[in-house]
Amino acid sequence: MAVKNELETRDWYKTAVFYQIWVRSFADGNGDGIGDLYGVYDKLEYLKSLGITAIWFNPLYPSPNADFGYDISDYCNIHPDYGDLEQFKKVLNKAHELGMKVIMDLVINHTSDEHPWFIESRKGGDDNPYKDYYIWRDEPNNWDSIFEGKAWEYDSVRGQYYLHLFAKKQPDLNMDNPKVREEVKNILRFWLSMGVDGFREDVINFISKREGLPNGIGFLPIIGSMHHYKDGPHIHEYLAEFRAVCDEYGAVQIGEGPMTTVNSAMKYLSGDTKSMDMMFSFDHMMADCLFTEYFHRPFSLIRLKTALSRWQYKLADKAWNSLYLENHDHPRVISRYGSEKYHRESGTALATAYMFLRGTPFIYQGQEIGMTNIKLSSIDQYVDVSSKNNYIRYHVKDPVEARLHRIHISSRDSARTPMQWDASENAGFTTGKPWFYVNPNYKAINVAAEEEDENSILNYYRKCVELRKENQVLLFGDYKEYDHKNPFVYMYERRKGKTSYFVICSFTGEPITYKLPRGFGGHTAKIMLSNYPKKRVPGEIRRMPEDGLKLAPYEALVVKMKRV
Ligand code: NOJ
Repeated sequence: MAVKNELETRDWYKTAVFYQIWVRSFADGNGDGIGDLYGVYDKLEYLKSLGITAIWFNPLYPSPNADFGYDISDYCNIHPDYGDLEQFKKVLNKAHELGMKVIMDLVINHTSDEHPWFIESRKGGDDNPYKDYYIWRDEPNNWDSIFEGKAWEYDSVRGQYYLHLFAKKQPDLNMDNPKVREEVKNILRFWLSMGVDGFREDVINFISKREGLPNGIGFLPIIGSMHHYKDGPHIHEYLAEFRAVCDEYGAVQIGEGPMTTVNSAMKYLSGDTKSMDMMFSFDHMMADCLFTEYFHRPFSLIRLKTALSRWQYKLADKAWNSLYLENHDHPRVISRYGSEKYHRESGTALATAYMFLRGTPFIYQGQEIGMTNIKLSSIDQYVDVSSKNNYIRYHVKDPVEARLHRIHISSRDSARTPMQWDASENAGFTTGKPWFYVNPNYKAINVAAEEEDENSILNYYRKCVELRKENQVLLFGDYKEYDHKNPFVYMYERRKGKTSYFVICSFTGEPITYKLPRGFGGHTAKIMLSNYPKKRVPGEIRRMPEDGLKLAPYEALVVKMKRV
């Protein structure tokens, strides 16, 4: 297929609303307690009803699950727990029929140690074609891995150390080897020729390592070595090769860029080195933590606003943002940035705060009903490799309760509990025994209950999606933040020509009087959306008060004004 016109093909992502499916916990269709593609098939109409136009699947491939799918043992197949290629094609076709695109997760920084390439590579030998598929050394350097101890593991078969930036069972591929890059291109072609619409690309900024792999420096060994593999020397060359393949199909590419700065993200997103349509930023995930959730600090709205605005301003009309608050790597956002006490109010305020930024929103399964963190009573009940290792790696001298509290607020497992569909046993996720703990709050927080309640978080997400859809100001208008130093209120404007939308969100459980920035008082505005709809009725025209806007706990509203 020839390179298609950008507008005909890729540009769909700019007006899309993505839904992210971590399949293991989404919906179990065959009763074995594990979410699968049979379950997904049955829920596609639900996604459609939410206004979703694209789906991102976390890895669906065969995997020993040392890192739940991010340790792949076969790139061109489906994990038997989730179905098979035939079932995947059924899901893909039905999604397409319903007007939803589908993107896959591309994990090429590392494979599983059970991948046949690694099994072969371990054997070494000069004429072994897989010998240099991974990064082998006689002596390790001082790097720490991100998930599990040192970044090097000795392999007794080969008699050398291999690099693993993540868990031991995730050896890093040697992307400097052209044969490895050819393998990547074959993987891309395999899925693209089946009809998938693009890829979310895992830790894509880590795939090119600095020559010689020098020792890291600094007080935090992980951070101190990161500059040796983040945005590495050949990254843009390699990504250009992959982009060329995606161009043949008009496929969308979304890069995950851990710890990427907005300036380096711009190199992936624009100019001669453009290889990605969007990048996932981590900056706004650090509003309550430093580097990983395990280094917790109190949530700061100002930090959140700083991060969001930095990306909004920098990308502006030069590149396109991805917008998210949750995914499978972060605990639930109501428990982090909102309030479990003001569950509905803060869940809807958070939705308002990010859904109207310039960019493409991603909704992670369960976010749309306001799922919250689970609190398990022992570390042994957790299954995530990074949570388990953080527990024995950091703050080890603290009392057990304090360490467990950190897990409660930081674990990735909190975002991976089974989806809460209804109030029946196991939250309607499975008729079998669920593979992981269901959050006990499922009787109150579930899809069925929220479908019935006009003012639920679920129905509010629908309203947000509806308001954005085809709205040229909210889709493409300029962004401007107001009152940055205010620690309780996030206010921004989206403007195109003479039309402006103002988004005002309170981030406190106290009622407050918010003094609107100069120039607003006395003007008339139309209420477009409100999470206190009885107090501010959508459609009503109101004068903006001169003496301050009275905001209820976590009140959020979107108003439209004509600029003079
Ligand atoms: C980022 C993924 O989102 C995460 O789940 C995974 O553990 C790491 N990359 C390693 O693949």
